[in-house]
Amino acid sequence: MKGRPTLAVVGATGAVGAVMLQILSQRADVWGEIRLIASPRSAGRKLSVRGEEVEVAALDEAAFDGVDVAMFDVPDDVSARWAPVAAAKGVVVVDNSAAFRMDPDVPLVVPEVNAHTVRNRPRGIVANPNCTTLSMIVALGALHAEYGLRELVVSSYQAVSGSGRAGIDTLREQLSLVAGTELGTGPGDVRRAVGDRTGPFPEPVALNVVPWAGSLREDGWSSEEMTVRDESRKILGLPQLPVAVTCVRVPVVTTHSMTVHARFQGEVTVDGAQEILATAPGVVLFDNPAAGEFPTPADAVGTDPTWVGRVRRTLDDPTALELFVCGDNLRKGAALNTAQIAELVAEELA
Ligand SMILES: NC(=O)c1ccc[n+]([C@@H]2O[C@H](COP(=O)([O-])OP(=O)(O)OC[C@H]3O[C@@H](n4cnc5c(N)ncnc54)[C@H](OP(=O)(O)O)[C@@H]3O)[C@@H](O)[C@H]2O)c1
Repeated sequence: MKGRPTLAVVGATGAVGAVMLQILSQRADVWGEIRLIASPRSAGRKLSVRGEEVEVAALDEAAFDGVDVAMFDVPDDVSARWAPVAAAKGVVVVDNSAAFRMDPDVPLVVPEVNAHTVRNRPRGIVANPNCTTLSMIVALGALHAEYGLRELVVSSYQAVSGSGRAGIDTLREQLSLVAGTELGTGPGDVRRAVGDRTGPFPEPVALNVVPWAGSLREDGWSSEEMTVRDESRKILGLPQLPVAVTCVRVPVVTTHSMTVHARFQGEVTVDGAQEILATAPGVVLFDNPAAGEFPTPADAVGTDPTWVGRVRRTLDDPTALELFVCGDNLRKGAALNTAQIAELVAEELA
């Protein structure tokens, strides 16, 4: 390939797309032309990337002419239809949707954990993991490399932007509906104030926590919970790893948090785990409760690393650790990881 590769950002107008344009403007620039693509609704809009205004094109086959790498930040059905079209034209697709993540011919890549798998892409597609998995997996990958993971129990506290622009708009609207009212004193009062403005969520998310994300799967599990289980296994290369997940939506705009119980092959120590986390690429250890230091979404939002704190050895099991983890679901959880994968591909094409 001659010169710098041409990049297409498909879904440039969405919640992930907007963060992607910021990230492309902030990271070392490896790209030649950057083409912005969205639905016909957005064609002709101008968006800023690398300090230039670029016109958005409608998604069609011709939009991929001359493109080397395409990042797809669009709904699953749009990726399922259009990623193979782009790949058939020789474009390497880095897909942020769930359409291909569990396809055995599509690598599921987190550069800090399994960068080597990016080269093996028989379908010309590389998948980016789900934001919930991504918000914790860099820290877990580092601990697994040293201690050998045996079991995971995870509870998530997920931000509304995990449901895209619709999720953010819904929380903002609900907050305005409940503002200044005396709510939280009787059953159903928040629900009455919010009415049918629940957007993509099954219950009000303002002044509430909702133990649900995704759609219903077998035996009461949610699709998001199954996703975190399946993807963690695939990324870590541990297909039999016991993983139990409960996903909960909270009234935070951006940054997913998680409590993690991780059991390993042998005994672990807090000092050892802290040393691994403090030196792991892509991880920040923020763990000094005596000084009031532990990560919160308000600290982690807008930043790249996975933040880890509250590192404790499980009281009744010297082989297990308890952690609290925060990661920006739109940066490492989506756009940043996609950009990192695309840069690995660009390096390979050079
Ligand atoms: N939000 C997160 O935390 C997160 C994290 C990881 C992965 N993801 C995944 O990333 C993808 C994008 O999510 P998002 O949160 O950014 O969603 P979003 O805010 O709803 O944005 C969707 C994007 O897709 C475009 N689009 C929709 N239908 C299209 C069509 N028929 N043809 C072409 N473009 C179309 C939209 O363009 P218009 O503006 O023109 O409609 C918009 O740019 C999804 O697969 C999501 O599951 C999201």
